[in-house]
Amino acid sequence: MSKNVVEVVGVCRTYKSARGEEVHALENVSLTVSEGEFVSIIGSSGCGKTTLLRLVAGLDKPQSGTCSLNGAPIVAPSPKSGYVFQQQSLFPWLTVEGNIASGLKARGVYKQYKDDVPKYISLVGLDGFEHSYPHQISGGMAQRAAIARSLINRPSVLLLDEPMGALDSFTRAGLQDKLLEIWRTNGTTMILVTHDIDEAIYLSDRIVIMTPRPGKVSEVLEVKFPHPRHRGGAEFLGLRRVILEKLNLASAQPQPEYRI
Ligand SMILES: Nc1ncnc2c1ncn2[C@@H]1O[C@H](COP(=O)(O)OP(=O)(O)O)[C@@H](O)[C@H]1O
Ligand SMILES: [Mg+2]
Repeated sequence: MSKNVVEVVGVCRTYKSARGEEVHALENVSLTVSEGEFVSIIGSSGCGKTTLLRLVAGLDKPQSGTCSLNGAPIVAPSPKSGYVFQQQSLFPWLTVEGNIASGLKARGVYKQYKDDVPKYISLVGLDGFEHSYPHQISGGMAQRAAIARSLINRPSVLLLDEPMGALDSFTRAGLQDKLLEIWRTNGTTMILVTHDIDEAIYLSDRIVIMTPRPGKVSEVLEVKFPHPRHRGGAEFLGLRRVILEKLNLASAQPQPEYRI
């Protein structure tokens, strides 16, 4: 039996809005992700996806429930959970190489592992761009560098918060393939937040569908067909239809901003 890497049990997270109202971002959310698994989380904007990832990353704490990584409670951010943001998050004053090395430097282990830097540059396909600065490379390349910066710390889980959200569809498809290749090569456990149903089907072992506020897990679907997955194939399109139906069900309650 494979080991559980991430365990989220009965988590609730409520925020206070600027007007002092309570916003129930997550209500009784539970999720277990096992070693080497690729799990995607989909759901409409504002349903608590980022909140959930931030809890797993140790960037925030739940009001109730527990989150653990490798069986230990998550109390603070750790290099054991890598976090890749939607927006460009590279240090603009460092080169690609410098950014990737910064992952090691932050842990004080650069001397020990500096030979890994070129390996991770190659892993994400950035050979030849070592000395480029973030403003000199494309958005897709910048995201690959951000992924390498996290992966070089050999995290138990890589948390990806809509990392392809700001990319055009060609770059996005290229990065999806790169992510699959990295996943296969490194065996890293992945949790990907996306609002792209096709992306979730193309990449994941399991897809977690969340309901709008308060965010709850409405459905967990397994994607059983093998890679490479054909976006126009019958299984792909069949699952896509199922997810669309579930999402419609999941959002049967209109969100407040759409109420007249
Ligand atoms: N720091 C915060 N303070 C107040 N409300 C917040 C805060 N962070 C998130 N929220 C609210 O919690 C809900 C869930 O947010 P989020 O997790 O960012 O959703 P998603 O990533 O699915 O779009 C939203 O209604 C959002 O406005
Ligand atoms: Mg978000």
